[in-house]
Amino acid sequence: METDKSQDELIEMLSDQLAEQFISNLDIMNRIVLMTEKFYDGSHSRFLTEKCEKIGTELGLKDESLTELRIAASLHDLGKVGFSDTLLFKNANEMDLSEFKLYSKHPEIAATILSPNPHYKEISKMILHHHEKLDGTGFPFHFTSDKIHYGAKIISVVNIYHNALFKRKTITSKNKQSIPTTNTVTFLESTKETFNSVMNFLYSKRGTQFEKKVVEALVEIETAERRALGEKTILRLPVNRLEPGMRIAEDYYNGVGMLIAARGETLNSKSISALIRFVENGELPMKVLVID
Ligand SMILES: [Fe+2]
Repeated sequence: METDKSQDELIEMLSDQLAEQFISNLDIMNRIVLMTEKFYDGSHSRFLTEKCEKIGTELGLKDESLTELRIAASLHDLGKVGFSDTLLFKNANEMDLSEFKLYSKHPEIAATILSPNPHYKEISKMILHHHEKLDGTGFPFHFTSDKIHYGAKIISVVNIYHNALFKRKTITSKNKQSIPTTNTVTFLESTKETFNSVMNFLYSKRGTQFEKKVVEALVEIETAERRALGEKTILRLPVNRLEPGMRIAEDYYNGVGMLIAARGETLNSKSISALIRFVENGELPMKVLVID
């Protein structure tokens, strides 16, 4: 009997639909995570996604493992959904005992949220272990090196780095920058001391708390990036003149306060098309500040 579609076409169509559903579910979860990031300059999860991918690539991760690492990095703080602003604003060492008890549950909360979908098995593990340390002083399980997922070892280092540099020290409105961004020299100067001290801290703990190769890769990538940034200029360009590889120089929000482009984000053809759509919908100014 002849049907409109061959079995192969049907399978292809169904797997396309599944992939689309997976991507749109991921997008929904990413938007939820953004709600927990109000005390950061830029987007914490997008920064981690980009940086973890660079380190993962440097360390030889490929295909599925790299994709899982990217997803885990983007969702690593999903378990903070529902946390109060007071808790979201504090660093772990500023919390009292009951606050820390709640905070230290966020890796497990995320894993519980993701548990119905078997495709998230490895991703969940990376998230569950992202606050563990090699010497067993992390949480929630106090795992030591061999029990910690390799992806979590990458996320934990980048997480500490981004928190030190981009978590706000005072409560400000979400559109206000605590680090000036209109001038790369000012940005590099104002963050120089913090950058050096967090790099020294991670370096001093490499092999004891943090994976040696991960710390070394981060130091190398970030040092090179800051050097290159010092030689770059900031431009205000119409969105249709943006090119892949350029970086967004300030945060852009839509009318309901959703972060649509985060400072430091590297543009690719997909994100440029999205920005063009935001301009067409009147949610973004015609011209945006980029670092070229
Ligand atoms: Fe976390």
